[in-house]
Amino acid sequence: MKKRLLSGVKPTGDIHIGNYFGAMKQFVDLQNSYESFIFIADYHALNQIKNPKKLSQNILEIAKAYISIGLDSQKAVLFKQSDVPVVTEMCWIFNSLTPLGLLRRAHAYKDAQAKKIPINMGLFDYPVLMAADILMYNTDVVPIGEDQKQHLEITQDIARLFNNYYGETFKIPLALINSEVAVIKGLDGRKMSKSYGNTIGLFDSREEIAKKVMSVVTDSRATDEPKDPETCNIFAFHKLFSKTQIEHLKTRYQEGTISYKESKEILIENLNNFLDPIRLKKKELDDNPKVIFDVLAKGAEAASKEACIKIAQVKQKIGVNISLCR
Ligand code: ADP
Ligand code: TRP
Repeated sequence: MKKRLLSGVKPTGDIHIGNYFGAMKQFVDLQNSYESFIFIADYHALNQIKNPKKLSQNILEIAKAYISIGLDSQKAVLFKQSDVPVVTEMCWIFNSLTPLGLLRRAHAYKDAQAKKIPINMGLFDYPVLMAADILMYNTDVVPIGEDQKQHLEITQDIARLFNNYYGETFKIPLALINSEVAVIKGLDGRKMSKSYGNTIGLFDSREEIAKKVMSVVTDSRATDEPKDPETCNIFAFHKLFSKTQIEHLKTRYQEGTISYKESKEILIENLNNFLDPIRLKKKELDDNPKVIFDVLAKGAEAASKEACIKIAQVKQKIGVNISLCR
């Protein structure tokens, strides 16, 4: 029996290569070894996105991204969180046993507090809905980026709490974090993030890629001056996209036989080689979006089937199923 993997991405904006290397690539790499459930966390996006049109577009883009990077709907169940409404029911049940202190320590909440961003209940309760997502499907492993580690620990706490109150019901899921690429840096050297506007998008055009890479700030060393590959933002991207040339590039940096301009041009070419097959698949889906709707409908059915079994078991355990008293 294969172990079960579950993960999801919020449809809050354009998918970037930080999302890809930090989380989504693992979905593809692992789809043959695990029974995979991959979803679009649309209810998780609600506290950030209040524009309905934008939210629908983002949902579609993530679905297209999943398929364009190589997720196979024959192998993995691909679905939309909101298509399995019992997940919110599970969230409520978990709410009733989650200590406030646990959520007050959550990074997303603390960050919002520090930045004085208005905080809604959806943001505060975010980790509990995430626990419902994960525990609903008897998940063994959850591939995520480093920044989601704390959320997974909260999920583990909630599973243990429930098991303590009501008896063994939930497996304790494990995080799968690819430590090699725990944090992908953005064009400016900070963590790549939609909120910093420093991203390389998975669906960026050739023109956008060229413009973005050429605008990366470097120091002013001339072509024949030795350069430090480890502090160069361009070189950090070479490590991801120029693997076969990496030693040669490193030597040229250290010996001072490459200009930043040439380094950027090589990167642009390699980035486009990486993105071309993804763009091609995306174009096919843009031309025939029915494929997406069919995949998500099939996924909703398969995920709902599993979720209904679990919620029935849970309702029995907590005592709301009075047929037991007959
Ligand atoms: P963003 O910071 O752009 O809003 P999200 O919070 O939506 O990204 O992250 C979606 C997934 O991608 C998460 O699993 C997260 O850990 C991962 N991720 C996001 N940015 C990066 C990054 N720069 N490096 C590695 N993983 C990332
Ligand atoms: N919190 C994740 C993010 O911000 C998205 C997410 C929601 C998720 N539910 C999940 C990830 C369950 C893994 C498992 O990216």
